[in-house]
Amino acid sequence: MVKKIAVLTSGGDAPGMNAAVRAVTRGALAKGWEVLGIRNGYAGLLEDEMRALQARDVGGIIQSGGTMLGSARCPEFAEPAGRTRALSILEKNGAEALVVIGGNGSQSGSASLAREGFPVVGVPSTIDNDLYGNDVSIGCDTAINITLEAVDRLRTTASSHRRAFAVETMGRNCGYIALMAGIAGGAEVIALPESELAPEDVAERLRAAYQRGKTHALAVIAEGAKCGVRALMEYYGAHRRSIGFDLRVTRLGHVVRGGIPSAADRVLATRLGAAAVDALAAGAHGVLVGIIRGDAVRTPLAEIAGRMRPADAGLLELARVMAR
Ligand code: F6P
Repeated sequence: MVKKIAVLTSGGDAPGMNAAVRAVTRGALAKGWEVLGIRNGYAGLLEDEMRALQARDVGGIIQSGGTMLGSARCPEFAEPAGRTRALSILEKNGAEALVVIGGNGSQSGSASLAREGFPVVGVPSTIDNDLYGNDVSIGCDTAINITLEAVDRLRTTASSHRRAFAVETMGRNCGYIALMAGIAGGAEVIALPESELAPEDVAERLRAAYQRGKTHALAVIAEGAKCGVRALMEYYGAHRRSIGFDLRVTRLGHVVRGGIPSAADRVLATRLGAAAVDALAAGAHGVLVGIIRGDAVRTPLAEIAGRMRPADAGLLELARVMAR
């Protein structure tokens, strides 16, 4: 039976990571285990940066964004030599299992450690929501809401000036944030990597909205979509007159993953952090704990590595009908 575990946060930070660290720590302490908090993800692990966490160390963080442990991207961990070093550092500190709170790249690292025989449990945390084996990852609800707030605010100024706005939001190669914020914000156009639009297609939809008498038009563009805001602006430069609306562009960037986590992200992180500890207590490891159709489900990390969960592009037709 495990008596001492380590926990780290890795990759791009996501609102709710702190709530997950708190849940892992307090869930493990409640079982009488010791907990080591590793600083700065796999990079900190390779530098042996860890300290014991007690219940009070994770107090007052459920509502704070970012991660108290720090996070990093760590190319060395993708190399076998890096992982061998990591394993010896974990062993030296007496850690018998590791909980990795992070996204796709981080869970590929977990899968490699698991393959090399170390007990690891992954907790899906990324605003991108692109992890296989999980319906919604920690941080994504907050990122959607921040994007939505921007869309709502831009709509009022767009209407006043009879303009179109293109809003670019994060998500790497997954269009989930753009799709959800676009539907919730009643966007006239949503451009995703899962269903590409050319700049002329986006412009055509803006033109059609103008001709239908709309006083504004919003295009929500995922950062991974080929029709990026730059390509759209270039196209617009040459065709502005025939489109009707003037165009302004807002790139939200890292704003969408900053600040306080939503209630949904805090609850999700608390459930998943506790589920990771429960998995280890049940002797299950080499798994990602995710929520699938409302239930906490364990999926082997070997099945997750190298796969991606795309946004449901089928919903685009619904968004299109609603934007009439
Ligand atoms: O994976 C999370 C994410 O915020 C992506 O949406 C984005 O493409 C990327 O990280 C940005 O990475 P960085 O924080 O390293 O600039």
